[in-house]
Amino acid sequence: MEIFNTKQEIKSYLTTQKKKNKTIGFVPTMGALHEGHLSLIKQAKKKNDIVVVSIFINPTQFDNNKDLEKYPKKIESDTRLLANSSCDVLFYPSVKEMYNTKVSSEKFDFEGIEHQMEGKFRQGHFNGVATIVKTFFEIIRPNSAYFGEKDFQQLLIIKKMVKNHRLKIKIKGCPIFREKDGLAMSSRNTRLSKEHRVSAPFIYKTLKQVRKKFNTENTLKITEWVEQEFKKNTFLNLEYFTIADEKTLEIVKNKEFNKNYRAFIAVFAGEIRLIDTIRLKNL
Ligand code: PAF
Repeated sequence: MEIFNTKQEIKSYLTTQKKKNKTIGFVPTMGALHEGHLSLIKQAKKKNDIVVVSIFINPTQFDNNKDLEKYPKKIESDTRLLANSSCDVLFYPSVKEMYNTKVSSEKFDFEGIEHQMEGKFRQGHFNGVATIVKTFFEIIRPNSAYFGEKDFQQLLIIKKMVKNHRLKIKIKGCPIFREKDGLAMSSRNTRLSKEHRVSAPFIYKTLKQVRKKFNTENTLKITEWVEQEFKKNTFLNLEYFTIADEKTLEIVKNKEFNKNYRAFIAVFAGEIRLIDTIRLKNL
C-alpha cells in the first residue's frame, strides 16, 4: 500500500496510473475505521483497479469544538487495517495541506435538502462536508466514490454537488453495517460508555418497529410514539425523529403511492451523538 501526505505526491502517482488506463475508486473517511469502512473498500475494489482511502478529520464540518477534539484518532491501527485490506493508496494529509491558512467552507446551494434534519441541528455541517469532498475529488479525480447509507442525507448532498458541478464521478451508496445487536457501525461508537453502549441498540430496535407501524399508522402517530418511547429511556435522548421522502427529505404527512420513504433519527447517548436510518415500505 502506498501512503501519501501531500497533494502533489498523490496527484503525480495517480496521473501515472491513469495514463495506464487504471480506474480509481475513492473511499473518503475520517479514520477510526470499522467493518462498515472495510465494506466500502471491498465494493470499491470490485469495480476499480485502484482503491484510494483518505483519512482526514475535517474541522469545517464540526459545529462543536469538543466533538472535533474528541473525535477518535487511530492512525496506526487504521494504517495496519488498510494494509491488510484491498486499499492500494492511503491519503493522510494535514489540515494545512488541505486548507492552507484559510480553514473555512465554501457556501453551497443544495436546493433545500441541506436545511432538513442534520442541516437543521448542525449549522454549516454540509458546507463543510461538501467543501472537503469536492477538494478531495479535485485532487484524486476518481471514477467512483463510495459512501455509507447511514449518513443518507450526506449521500444525497454529495450526489447533488457532483451533479451541480458537472463532475464525472459515480457516487455509490452502500448499505449500513451493523453490530450483532443492531447498532449501526460508527467511529463514534468507540466513545460510548458501557451503559450507553448497552442502551444504544434501542435505536435500531425502535426503527424496526417504526417500519412495521408504517404499514397501518399515520406518520404523526408514529412520531409521537417514538418520542414517548425515548422519554421512557433514561440513557438515550432523542434529538429528532422524522419520516421523510427519500428524494427531497421533506417531512411526510400523508403517504403517496409510488414514493419512497425513510425514517431518520438522531440520538444523544451521553455526549455522543448517534444517527441511524431505515427504508420504509410504501404500500
Ligand atoms: O462521512 C464521513 O466520514 C465524512 O463526512 C467524510 C465524507 C469523510 C467527509 O469528511
